Amino acid sequence: MKKQKIVIANWKMKLNLAETIGLAKEIKIKFQDFNKGRVVVCPGSLSLAEVSKIFKASHVKLGAQNVFWEEKGAYTGEVSTEQLAETGCGYVIVGHSERRKYLLENYEMIHLKLKAVINSDNLIPIVCIGENREERKTDRRDFVLVDQLHQALGGINILANQKIIIAYEPIWAIGSGVAIEPAEAEYAHKIVKLTLNDIFGIEKANNNFDIIYGGSIDGKNVKGFAKIENIDGLLVGGASLNAEEFYKVARAILK
Ligand code: 13P
Repeated sequence: MKKQKIVIANWKMKLNLAETIGLAKEIKIKFQDFNKGRVVVCPGSLSLAEVSKIFKASHVKLGAQNVFWEEKGAYTGEVSTEQLAETGCGYVIVGHSERRKYLLENYEMIHLKLKAVINSDNLIPIVCIGENREERKTDRRDFVLVDQLHQALGGINILANQKIIIAYEPIWAIGSGVAIEPAEAEYAHKIVKLTLNDIFGIEKANNNFDIIYGGSIDGKNVKGFAKIENIDGLLVGGASLNAEEFYKVARAILK
């Protein structure tokens, strides 16, 4: 069966509640006659409940930007998988590079978070990997990706019906206005695929994983990514803050 591609909006911490609700409503209208592929929006955590109401009975699904690895307990300020699921989330971003940078989240934590999400059985994790500028310059990109994948996924047991999305987001491309060349993304995705084959075997790597790209995607450059093998979708930051631009991206990728 052919895979359904996916386009995910990451609104980061860019909008207040009124702006979030306004944009969610615009997106709902834009996508009301659109039923191709999968479309996910990840607003800030305090607006999840409101946005969940807006996307109810819509093709657009809800995702969160972060989660904690414990089920319950004295973890001030954290959010659990259960809390996300009961708010209507079906997806959650794990280990975004901005959290790795500003909150010193490392792949040990990402591994724990991923395990919690998999065990919760009602959320699909979007696990972020990607090299920084220095690693790219010094030709260590392939090693970095393989290492991040092994740290995040090693020892994780996935059942036949569980899905994991791997988002390759080269850090230097995020928010820079310059996306990676599609051919280079294709190469990096191949590295990810081969590593997943190594860890889980070819069948699970094919059936249980999506590999998507993120970093300065917009309505113009998206066309270069539409035909590429091994790219199952996109994680979109800045361009997802405009309903028309996000719709353009989705239309180009989701056929
Ligand atoms: P930009 O699309 O703004 O570069 O952000 C990408 C990103 O970080 C998505 O998670």
